[in-house]
Amino acid sequence: MTRKPNTLGEFIIGNQNDFKYSSGELSRLINSISLAAKVVNHEVNKAGLVDILGSIGDTNIQGEDQQKLDVYANEVFMQTLINREIVCGIASEEEDEFVKIEGRNKSHDNKYILLMDPLDGSSNIDVNVSVGTIFSIYRRVTPIGTPVEKEDFLQPGTQQVAAGYVIYGTSTMLVYSTGNGVNGFTLNPAIGVFYLSHPYMKYPNNGGIYSINEGYYSHFPQGVKDYLKFCQEETEDRPYKGRYIGSLVSDFHRNMIKGGIYIYPTSSKAPEGKLRLLYECNPMAYIAEQAGGKATDGYNRILEIKPTHLHQRVPFFCGSAKMVEDAEHFMAKYPEDAFYKEVPKTF
Ligand code: AHG
Ligand code: MN
Ligand code: MN
Repeated sequence: MTRKPNTLGEFIIGNQNDFKYSSGELSRLINSISLAAKVVNHEVNKAGLVDILGSIGDTNIQGEDQQKLDVYANEVFMQTLINREIVCGIASEEEDEFVKIEGRNKSHDNKYILLMDPLDGSSNIDVNVSVGTIFSIYRRVTPIGTPVEKEDFLQPGTQQVAAGYVIYGTSTMLVYSTGNGVNGFTLNPAIGVFYLSHPYMKYPNNGGIYSINEGYYSHFPQGVKDYLKFCQEETEDRPYKGRYIGSLVSDFHRNMIKGGIYIYPTSSKAPEGKLRLLYECNPMAYIAEQAGGKATDGYNRILEIKPTHLHQRVPFFCGSAKMVEDAEHFMAKYPEDAFYKEVPKTF
């Protein structure tokens, strides 16, 4: 009989040899992420049943309400990765600073670091709408054996060796890429196994869905307003459908399957945009590109932005290549400098 990888475990074994000089560390890391995802999934699914809903009355470094499940998901992922001694450092949306991880012999022997948004779309928890986890993996740039430094985390997205997300939805899926395309695995909750359900996922080159929080319309830069008019225009293939869940993971996942564009631009309310470059935009941009899509800040490729700080935010235009190019075309009518300067001035 011929091999036909069916489960995530089998798939990982089958692809291990794709990496030159692979020591199996990345495979073990993906396995650890899938374990943490199953634990979080279990908790998310019973969220309505136990006293875990609602805010714990604390705020994270970015001044946002931390939900109980945010904190829980953060702890599960951190603890799982620390216990398995599989990364030498973690940066999380829910942590003020990056965390240095040392092994039992007090050395920092692992070569990978992980960045994550442990629970994305947390404002949707209370209303039973899909949430997710986003992760991004890099090789450290400082010497193995020494504690990790900020520069290990401030690498441009082009340097990612893997990225992915988990979507806790009608079914729970793990979607990831190690640079050889994107594959999606669906959890069979009865036996706790992820099965390869969406091999080699591809963004349709064009699509018919636009996803943006239009409530902020009057605060958007003119280029975005012009593009939205274009989306709503009556032509043979337009108006596009508007779909916005408010969970990046869910909006992205739908758009990758059906064809669409997700936009979170600058606005007077969020002069730098809202989404975080390191925890949200870079991993999603990596997956988008691996699936044949595009991701920019309206002017520049997301993956080429050189990060300056851990919790940096950027505007985000991501989706079907043709749709992102159309949006960029409208943005280009207004110079990038004006784009960044215009917004704060208007308020
Ligand atoms: P998080 O729950 O990790 O803070 O992320 C929420 C993000 C993203 O998932 C979503 O697309 C966006 O915020 C929604 O923001 P608005 O409510 O401003 O539209
Ligand atoms: Mn998020
Ligand atoms: Mn989050």
